[in-house]
Amino acid sequence: MTTDPGIPGSGASFTDADRAAFYRVLAARRDMRHFTPGASVDPVVLHRILQAAHQAPSVGLMQPWRFVRVLDADLRGRIAELVESERLATAAALGERGGEFLQLKVEGVRECAELIVAVLAPDDGTVFGRRTMPRDMALCSLACAVQNLWLAARAENLGLGWVSMFDPTALARVLALPPDAQPMALLCLGPVPAFYEAPMLEQTGWRQARPLTDFVQVDTGTHSDTVPPADPA
Ligand SMILES: Cc1cc2nc3c(=O)[nH]c(=O)nc-3n(C[C@H](O)[C@H](O)[C@H](O)COP(=O)(O)O)c2cc1C
Repeated sequence: MTTDPGIPGSGASFTDADRAAFYRVLAARRDMRHFTPGASVDPVVLHRILQAAHQAPSVGLMQPWRFVRVLDADLRGRIAELVESERLATAAALGERGGEFLQLKVEGVRECAELIVAVLAPDDGTVFGRRTMPRDMALCSLACAVQNLWLAARAENLGLGWVSMFDPTALARVLALPPDAQPMALLCLGPVPAFYEAPMLEQTGWRQARPLTDFVQVDTGTHSDTVPPADPA
């Protein structure tokens, strides 16, 4: 049950205007890598955004997320170095598209106002809903929380970029995480000069998103013949 009178409880129904606003937020959310230098996030707004993440569904209500705010400048610098080394390794792994990849901006770790690490918490042994896929279901729950956070940030007119280019073992060490915890996402949050009109990977010609009709099937899932190659040159 919510304690915030501004947030409707489960009995509320939504108006056409509410619905339109919700879908506008979904459509306007972008993965952002360019941030306004020297900007900050109002602590009240940050609290709302983290609360939105914490309202996410989770398997068996295990809430397997932890959020680590990185406030120390040296620590942020060490994290940025980890990302840079993985960016170079990714370029090498991409083969002939490696040079093109290096031209892309793939993170805003140093420039964003707030750096938050989304961590998969040590497993608490929850069985409900995850007997057959324990780790996957915990991860899915964490992803739900990150998506809530992402949408809330957009509703607050703040950009968010999900950065996954890092060695999780090295990052866990840098953050002194407990042995069974795993950092899953570096979340770069903050004011941006402008939101991209379309996914940046589309704008730069890296890859084109495909329409919904390619992804909805009826009764069977025999789709492997239609899947184009990953990272096509
Ligand atoms: C799990 C996950 C990891 C991602 N990691 C990165 C990343 O390391 N660097 C990056 O530039 N974008 C990353 N992205 C953002 C995607 O590239 C982006 O969501 C996609 O291109 C669609 O663009 P949009 O989010 O603006 O719609 C990641 C997104 C997800 C969901």
